Amino acid sequence: MILFTTSEIYPFSKSGGLGDVAGILPLALRELGREVAVITPLYGRIYSTTYPLRLLMENCPVGYPWPEVTADIYVADYQGVPVYFVDRPEYFDRGEYYCTYHGEYFDNCERFIFFSRAVLAWARWLDHKPTILHCNDWHTSLIPAYLFEARQSDPFWGDVGSVLTIHNLAFQGQYSARLFWESGLSLSAWSMDGAEYYGSFNMLKTGIAYADKVTTVSPSYAREIMTSEFGYGMEGMLAKRARDVQGILNGVDYSIWDPRADPFLKAHYSPYDLSGKRLCKKDLLETMGLHSRFLSRPVLGFIGRMRWQKGVDLVLDILPELLEMDLGLVFLGEGDLETETSLTNLSEQYPGQLAVEIGYTEELSHQIMAGSDIFLMPSRYEPCGLTQLYGLRYGTLPVTSDVGGLRDTVTPWPEPGCTGFKFRRFEPEDFAETVRAAVDLWADPKGWEAVRQRAMLQDFSWRQSAREYDNLYRSLEE
Ligand code: ADP
Ligand code: GLC
Repeated sequence: MILFTTSEIYPFSKSGGLGDVAGILPLALRELGREVAVITPLYGRIYSTTYPLRLLMENCPVGYPWPEVTADIYVADYQGVPVYFVDRPEYFDRGEYYCTYHGEYFDNCERFIFFSRAVLAWARWLDHKPTILHCNDWHTSLIPAYLFEARQSDPFWGDVGSVLTIHNLAFQGQYSARLFWESGLSLSAWSMDGAEYYGSFNMLKTGIAYADKVTTVSPSYAREIMTSEFGYGMEGMLAKRARDVQGILNGVDYSIWDPRADPFLKAHYSPYDLSGKRLCKKDLLETMGLHSRFLSRPVLGFIGRMRWQKGVDLVLDILPELLEMDLGLVFLGEGDLETETSLTNLSEQYPGQLAVEIGYTEELSHQIMAGSDIFLMPSRYEPCGLTQLYGLRYGTLPVTSDVGGLRDTVTPWPEPGCTGFKFRRFEPEDFAETVRAAVDLWADPKGWEAVRQRAMLQDFSWRQSAREYDNLYRSLEE
């Protein structure tokens, strides 16, 4: 049995792509005949009512940060996959998952040590013993180290393997050494080849050191993270583990992201009949208060965390040119206060042409995806990226930078088989020029139609990726 451990899982919790991946990969694995269960924290923000939660166990002993501390375990039947929820309200019943405008929660390290230890504690109570603990990002990356140590003392764990998937190397969970001493890991883990990073306790590094296999979410990012440009200080550790590092591209959950059946849309459409897309565009213009003349002009959409990674500042840099080209602009996201404020001010300055929604809205994200013509994604780095894949399926052609998963998923115009647009140098001029090329092609309906249809017919479903994970698990189970 694969026990998939994650700090978020859609539709119960989600702050970004990790939630999407956790919500579909276990289902795709089950379709391949794998037995899978998921374990995740029970946040105050859990919002699915479709899958009711049931209390399974009170007071599961966790023993951290004091010997007496316990967790309650709930379960939901998520389309045949059990999802276990670790409940400890003082850690997880909060307004946000990880951070507020004031920064990270002060006790994030403690929260996720607690969660990781609860995973190991609960795994011992399961009817079916896991063969693999599949961990994701820094939140759960101490688990491979706990497992490594448990294997030495407890035969139960002897044949259990661990996989760590890195969704974003920039977030490492780095804390004061003091927290290491409280984590329960043994002294031998405190080394250059383990949990220690220049005197600090680095949770992601610990996972990279101890996991039996390390994966990341695209082949290009797997190569990039071995370099100092993208490695965020982990390149040395990753290079040491190079033989066990692999890139497996994410897929898309087309049961949620497909304009043929998307319940959030006013109208549906397919690669062969795009009349519904026009209705979606009209609806988007009305919802966002854009002028109706943009029905016959390109509308550019941006959806995502408004952070340095996503390059929203590059969009702001070229805004005067975009406005001059008479394009409509729609932004949805939350993140840096400064970016949010600039965009809000701009929307007041250019009413009817530039609209912004600050916040997190699942419904609107689908509507922007369907109602826009072009999707902007000028990421500085992008481990995989899912929104460009949604853009392809929704016929909203992506204009992207040329990094990580964007490299692996978008074929740039005018190459044969092109599905979108890319700029190579991360400079405003290059980005502006590429948007201009996209707008020029948009003005040629035949040319646009050909690329759009090809984009919509791309298949990034999870089947292939799930097979690769399955093979990876097999290599550890043998
Ligand atoms: P990342 O995980 O780096 O944020 P991805 O492209 O992999 O980027 O995934 C982002 C996911 O989060 C997508 O499903 C996207 O639609 C969603 N998302 C991001 N910001 C918002 C928002 N403000 N409102 C709704 N959905 C959002
Ligand atoms: C991360 C990355 C994103 C990736 C997602 C899911 O948040 O930033 O590129 O698609 O995880 O793996």
